[in-house]
Amino acid sequence: MLQSKKLSKKYQDKRILDDITLEIPQAQVTAFIGANGAGKSTLLGIMSRLITKEDGEVLIDDQDVTKWKSRALAQKLAILKQSNQVSARLTVEDLVAFGRFPYSKGRLTLEDQQKVTQALEYMEITDLKADYIDELSGGQQQRVYIAMIIAQDTEYVLLDEPLNNLDMKHAVQMMKILRRLVDDFGKTIVLVLHDINFASAYADYMVGLKDGRIVAQGSTAEMMTPEQLNIVYDMPLAITEIDSCKYCLYFK
Ligand SMILES: Nc1ncnc2c1ncn2[C@@H]1O[C@H](COP(=O)(O)OP(=O)(O)OP(=O)(O)O)[C@@H](O)[C@H]1O
Ligand SMILES: [Mg+2]
Repeated sequence: MLQSKKLSKKYQDKRILDDITLEIPQAQVTAFIGANGAGKSTLLGIMSRLITKEDGEVLIDDQDVTKWKSRALAQKLAILKQSNQVSARLTVEDLVAFGRFPYSKGRLTLEDQQKVTQALEYMEITDLKADYIDELSGGQQQRVYIAMIIAQDTEYVLLDEPLNNLDMKHAVQMMKILRRLVDDFGKTIVLVLHDINFASAYADYMVGLKDGRIVAQGSTAEMMTPEQLNIVYDMPLAITEIDSCKYCLYFK
């Protein structure tokens, strides 16, 4: 179980997160939504211990995240940050193999190698495995980072805007892979999405943040209403339904 209790965060006296109490549904896809600056990345960062909190707590299996040993935590929870850049000149395969570091500390076992191969196949980047990261396109790089997270094979997977830089086809492929990780392997996934329609089509649960607070949350069907989305985004929008999935129209 991944949860936060009365979490808050300030930067230079400015309150960025305020009283965030949240239980992430187990073995489901949860989407954090909200405007730029709402606090989505900060919340994900605190949940994964990349960012320190002010007050409150984050619990993973009832143990405070700050009390977890680093290696155990890295076997339990993986995080993809909003922007990723490696400065070292690494190949795709090398970078994906970093996902196995919490297990092998650099000496890959046969099982580690299999996980790397599998992750490359999942993301359909096997052809790129000998290429250097800094010579790939933005979307290709994004898929390599996600392959690294998949290779890490953790129960909790937190992804900050995983669809960044992906074209339509690869964005759909990405979401289908994430669904498979949940439906077939029981992973618990939390991701930040700006495209509300991807959230509607693929997430089970949605959490709306605004000015550092949770202003709406519920199942995808509950959240995909003009009223709920208006609370989150402060803008007029309409909902339509195609093949029993709700979509949001917001272009005017
Ligand atoms: N290191 C920092 N120092 C000071 N302020 C920060 C820092 N990181 C984030 N903030 C502020 O915290 C607020 C929330 O930022 P955060 O990155 O969590 O937003 P977000 O919801 O992820 O936005 P986006 O959709 O643009 O990624 C913003 O007002 C931002 O300026
Ligand atoms: Mg962000």
